[in-house]
Order: sequence, then structure tokens, then C-alpha cells
Amino acid sequence: DWSMSSFCDQEIARIRKLVGDRAQVIGAVSGGVDSTVGAALLKEAIGSRFHAVLVDNGVMRLNECQQVKETLAEHLGISLTVVDASQRFLDGLKGVVDSEKKRKFIGNTFIDIFEEEALKIEKRAENTPNAGKVEWFLQGTLYPDVIESISFKGPSATIKTHHNVGGLPQRMMDGQGLKLIEPLRELFKDEVRDLGRQLGIHEDLVMRHPFPGPGIAIRILGDVTPERVKIARQADHIFISMIREAGLYNEISQAYAGLDTNKAVGVMGDKRQEGYIVILRAVKTTDFMTAEAYPFSMDFLMDVSRRIVNEVDGIALVTYNTTSKPPSTIELQ
Ligand code: XMP
Repeated sequence: DWSMSSFCDQEIARIRKLVGDRAQVIGAVSGGVDSTVGAALLKEAIGSRFHAVLVDNGVMRLNECQQVKETLAEHLGISLTVVDASQRFLDGLKGVVDSEKKRKFIGNTFIDIFEEEALKIEKRAENTPNAGKVEWFLQGTLYPDVIESISFKGPSATIKTHHNVGGLPQRMMDGQGLKLIEPLRELFKDEVRDLGRQLGIHEDLVMRHPFPGPGIAIRILGDVTPERVKIARQADHIFISMIREAGLYNEISQAYAGLDTNKAVGVMGDKRQEGYIVILRAVKTTDFMTAEAYPFSMDFLMDVSRRIVNEVDGIALVTYNTTSKPPSTIELQ
């Protein structure tokens, strides 16, 4: 694509000029499209003076951390630090059932860890030939986020705190005097995907569904225990793999398996046994403000249920959430 290739070249030149030839840039990566494309662009522009940080918050999906590591560090050659903070997050989540409290705790802890890491990166850079201060913070803000944060003051802005795009880096910028670098702020999602292809990012990643920062924690109603995270993770992995195998992944905007608060009674052989309740969710949407449940065939849903109860210990039943947004939301909490 000619226009994307010239955008790419221009943006790389602009970043080089902006950052200069000493300063360092840091950015958080999650394995999602936006943060990966942003990171790949920065790497093209300033090489190892860009540092990506992946924080394992204990509520990522099955093998996700490992996959991000492979893609970014090995495939794209990005300088990456992985911080395994899963224990710290899971400890702090103990007993937290309110979804906004989950979001707040995960968001704040994330920034604490990221700040600690930024200082370490600067220290490490001190002893290298191109030592420079960490002056910039990469954010994968897209055009729709910019518009939303400027003009969107409607009622649903306050339903969930994630619409607060400016909130997260503000504390970092005030605290450490970091300047914001937002190479995607003029692009729509489809253009970011094109830019990703241009930068050699694999098609599977380019087409990935969005995944919320608080991860599985807001897909588990009630208490987020290590056991419940493990079960939700395994069920989710089966569901998503089956969606991929059926060739439906790109038809669907977002999908996951979550967990209900309570247990239900099931039978194992001739024994009565309580088990968890899995809630499957798959939606089609263009703007994520409204969404429709994806109309799977009953056969497909029954296959998914069968595999989940057979392969994951501790699950008594599987349900499919058919509710539209509104009144439901895409996530469970
Ligand atoms: P809802 O559940 O509000 O989700 O219908 C709309 C879109 O926003 C994502 N989402 C989040 N993303 N942090 C995020 O980074 C959050 O706390 C959060 N909550 C919801 C959701 O995955 C969907 O794409």
C-alpha cells in the first residue's frame, strides 16, 4: 500500500527528529495491535533507544506473555523487558469483587511497576555509549480515542473508567516529566492494521481482537482467585481456538470465556458435584459502543461446551450470553 508506506517513512523521520540522537523512549506493550505497531515504529526509528515493557499482571490469557515475548523480541527485534508481577497483582486482587475497584487496583499497580522499570532502564543506559535520559513515553492512542476524549462527555463515558484515555499516562508525565509520543493519533484501526503489515507484523497479530487492560479480572464475576483465573484461561483458550479453527475469528469483533460468581450442581458418574459456570461471549460490532451477540450454530456451541467440560476440571456448565449491548456490555463487568 503506497500511502501507508509513505506514512510509515514520514512518521519514522518525524520521530527521529523529535527524539533527537540521545534521548530514550519507553512504552508499555500488551501484545495488542496498537501497542505492537507503535513499538515496531519506534524500533524502526531509533532502534535500541526504544524500550518496550511488558508487565505480566497475572490476568493475561494462556501463554500470552510468552507469545508477546516471541513476537516483539525475537521476531521484531524490539528491546523488551518482561516484568513478572503476577503474584503482586493476584495478591492485591484477593477479595476484590467490585469491577471498578479491580480496574483501579490493576491500573495503579501497573503504573507503579512501569515507573520503577523506567528508572531501571535509565540506570542501565547510563553505562552504554548512547546513554541518554528517558524523556519520552510512547502511547498507542488512535484517532477515535482522541475524538472520544475531546468530545465524548455522554452518559456512557462514566459507565466504565477505561474511556479515560488521558488518565493513565498523566501521572507518569507529571511525576517524571515524560513527554508523550503518539505516532498513531491520526489513524483509524484499519489504518493501524495496514501500518502493522507494512512493518512486517504477522497477520494473526494484526487482526487480533482487542483485549482489556484488566484482562481476565473483569471477565470473572466476583473473586479473582488463582484457581478461577486458571479455569477461565483454559476455557477461553478452547473457545478461541475453536473459533479460529471454524474460520470465524475475523468475523467476530471480540470473544472470550468468562466465569460466573456462583457454582452449579452437576453429575460426575453417579456423584453430585458442584462446578463453575462458564459464560461465553462473542460479539460483532463496528464501534464497540453497541454490539450484537454472534449467531453461532447450536452445533458449534454444543461442541464448545462439550470440549470445555471434558478438558477443564471443575466446570459444571457452559452458557452463551446472547444479550446485545446495550443493555449488556461486551465485558462481564
Ligand atoms: P464494554 O464492556 O464497556 O467494552 O462494552 C467496550 C470495549 O472496551 C473494552 N474494555 C476495556 N479496555 N480497560 C481496557 O483497556 C478496561 O477496563 C476495559 N473495559 C472494557 C472492552 O474489551 C471492549 O473492547
